[in-house]
Amino acid sequence: MSSWRGVLEQYREWLELPQGISPVTLLEGNTPLLSIPHLAADWNSSAAYVKVEGMNPTGSFKDRGMTAAVSVAVAGGARALICASTGNTAASAAAYAARAGLRCIVLIPEGQVAAGKLAGARAHGAEVVQIQGSFDAALELVQELAPLLPAVLVNSLNPDRLEGQATAAFEILDHLGGAPDWLALPVGNAGNISALWLGFRRMAEKRSSGTPRILGAQAAGAAPLVVGSPVENPRTVASAIRIGRPARGPQALAAARESGGGIVSVPDSEILRAQADLASEGIWVEPASAAGVAAARAEIESGRIDIKGKTIVFIATGHGLKDPALYPHVNDPILTVLANPRALMEALRT
Ligand code: F0G
Repeated sequence: MSSWRGVLEQYREWLELPQGISPVTLLEGNTPLLSIPHLAADWNSSAAYVKVEGMNPTGSFKDRGMTAAVSVAVAGGARALICASTGNTAASAAAYAARAGLRCIVLIPEGQVAAGKLAGARAHGAEVVQIQGSFDAALELVQELAPLLPAVLVNSLNPDRLEGQATAAFEILDHLGGAPDWLALPVGNAGNISALWLGFRRMAEKRSSGTPRILGAQAAGAAPLVVGSPVENPRTVASAIRIGRPARGPQALAAARESGGGIVSVPDSEILRAQADLASEGIWVEPASAAGVAAARAEIESGRIDIKGKTIVFIATGHGLKDPALYPHVNDPILTVLANPRALMEALRT
């Protein structure tokens, strides 16, 4: 039986990282690629899959990039990490810092981070600081602070993060035996779309595995790459992607263009509908993670994308448990009955 050793060991030969580093790993990666037969049937797609990145150790795709960034930081003698975050990067940086015995400083926009993410960052001992400003302001501040502290910046501006996150592309290729026709994913700070495109392109050059067309999804109230200019007060229920000035915006636009895809915006109502659709296929994701599904639905139903007989993969970036309070029905009253069978049977009769 071969056992999984984490993404750096698994894909060492394909990654452009310094030679000989010892991985700081929580055995991230190797996440399920699950079929979603009902949505596939609705769309006449030959196959639709979800890459369930919420199954990573801290519940999001960030762990792929964090193992790379933290391993390189440790090899370089770092003592501290710093990041700005809408939550998932924070939780991931905190866990890998704890594993490596590093200090971890996290800047978050005050009151805008989902409970499960904040709890994760604090559980692992990160120093969490809220700023009275947006994620974009926090990202500017950490870039200024990193050299002064000093601390290694582990946002996706750090190129090692992209290397690690490219492994999601390698896993999809390994699983399907080639590239899907389409890949759809949410876009916030635009690191992940850049990383996935890097991964697919690199494998296509080395192994002729082909490349997917990439569909990036932004929330309508936080869609700088769709409107073509920064958004000063980004608004969306999908707090993970509430970002108005994506650090890797130009790369994201290039990924969409070069792959033959695009970046589109979707209203919050459609994001929540897509979240419910995934939940009804057994996959609970946080709101941002459903944006790719919402975007694909809009493109398919309007005829702009023809998915008939084609394969599409969605990157479900984070687990639903990160942000349980937001799921549409969780605040509905719960059926409460006396603790006896008759009362229960009565209540359950439809
Ligand atoms: N989905 C989730 C669940 C995220 O947490 C993020 C980004 C994205 C999608 C977008 O990925 O930024 O690479 O385009 N979260 C960052 C954070 C910003 O701080 O956790 P991206």
